[in-house]
Amino acid sequence: MSALDVFGYGIDLLAVLLLALGLKGLSKVRSARSANGLAALAMGLAVVGLLIQVQPSPTAWLWIAVGTAAGGLLGLLTAQRVPMTAMPETVALFNGCGGMASLLVALAVALFDPSDTTLVERISIVISVFVGAITFSGSIVAMGKLQGWIGTPGWTQSSVRHAVNITLALASLVGGVFMAAVAPEAGPAVGPLWLLVVASTLLGIGVTLPIGGADMPVVISLLNSYSGVAAAAAGFVVGSQLLIVAGAMVGAAGLILTQVMCTAMNRSLVSVLFGGALGAASGGGHVGGGGDEAGYSRIVSCSAEECAMALETAERVVFVPGYGLAVAQAQHALRELAKLLEANGSEVSYAIHPVAGRMPGHMNVLLAEADVPYEQLLEMDTINPEFPRTDVVIVLGANDVVNPDAKTDPSSPLYGMPVLEVDQARQVFVVKRSLGAGYAGIANALFELPQTAMVFGDAKAVLQQLCTELRSQGVGSKVAVAA
Ligand code: TAP
Repeated sequence: MSALDVFGYGIDLLAVLLLALGLKGLSKVRSARSANGLAALAMGLAVVGLLIQVQPSPTAWLWIAVGTAAGGLLGLLTAQRVPMTAMPETVALFNGCGGMASLLVALAVALFDPSDTTLVERISIVISVFVGAITFSGSIVAMGKLQGWIGTPGWTQSSVRHAVNITLALASLVGGVFMAAVAPEAGPAVGPLWLLVVASTLLGIGVTLPIGGADMPVVISLLNSYSGVAAAAAGFVVGSQLLIVAGAMVGAAGLILTQVMCTAMNRSLVSVLFGGALGAASGGGHVGGGGDEAGYSRIVSCSAEECAMALETAERVVFVPGYGLAVAQAQHALRELAKLLEANGSEVSYAIHPVAGRMPGHMNVLLAEADVPYEQLLEMDTINPEFPRTDVVIVLGANDVVNPDAKTDPSSPLYGMPVLEVDQARQVFVVKRSLGAGYAGIANALFELPQTAMVFGDAKAVLQQLCTELRSQGVGSKVAVAA
């Protein structure tokens, strides 16, 4: 082993350590931003380490430079332009790219360099192609469904889909077994390889297409895990320990996140994957369903002025942010209101539901953007026992995550999903634009409870009105004194 090789392996090791530290740091909001930078640095080092070991030819350098520039530019532009609310679709797209990369690496070896592959390497190629193709096509379907480009065809809700998927799985198995069994000296096993590619690509579509919009975040997280598995398998194909380690980390992290999300939505992974569309609004739009205005009979609404009066005398206030807060980009207005209330002597906290918004950690990221102190963000299990001693709860663009039917109505599609028990508080104000439904497309019993009043309007506009009202009552001057 040359000194250059040793140097390259050293860089690899450093990259693995930084990647592990990066992943660890991502688990805390406070360290997430720097952890992301650390993980990106690890990836950069990994590429450098690989180039040192491989020492590409001048032509290969050209390809590498063009590929890096094109991919890097595309990633940069996408990341800069995509709104926070479209993050799940973006993650799905990136997962799909990861799956496709592993698929292409394995395909390249299988088609152009099969002569000295061992049995283990051929099995790795099969796994990489199989999982990579499912990840790719499944992720593209997931993205299309979240964007509302792809619906849920009727046949996918019948048992036909199981027959179709079993057939595709068997075809993939046949292709994979023949592919691994063909002696390397016989050249590329083109037929079995393409059977495997086509069948597993279709299987990815067949498995993802029936899944309803409400379950899509779980699927995306699972596909993220798959992309790690495909990358680890590709690592065995090309003999890269780094790829094996990084792929295994992504695979395990994705699986853990999937489990956490299933628990938060009270869904089992089996029912997500094989249960078909949840009785919810696929695609995530504001589908009326049971949530139409006509469905409510005891709605009380009030003005921002009345809400401000209640806030002025409240000792303990809890804000419940939801998807609508992100849509309205009202996080800064919320922080401003919280500061006014704190200066007025109120104790303020924020109740964070694990699946509020449209991606894991959505509310944490949103509120961190407005410099909300981390210690005021309370997770569901911590805040729920506090609601009975809370004077005022302000629900801001949240709907499903505060629906009491999830606890009491066995016929509700949300039944069993743990929710924020805001109905236990003394007074609840729900800020949203209409009586329209949330993601699950169903009515919310909270809106009709005697302690609830609706404050209709865009979350940002209402929060700004609340600030103005409080200032007009002299609360602002107390802030100035406090500052
Ligand atoms: P939702 O139940 O989706 O409700 C959001 C509410 O925001 C809507 O009812 C909407 O009502 C309101 N809204 C929209 N724009 C607004 C604006 N500009 N100002 C004020 N309100 C506005 O949100 P949630 O409570 O956060 O629950 C999340 C749901 O999404 C759950 O069902 C969850 O399972 C699902 N989901 C979660 C994720 C993750 S991982 N977080 C990913 C995908 C899906 P109006 O139209 O009347 O204003």
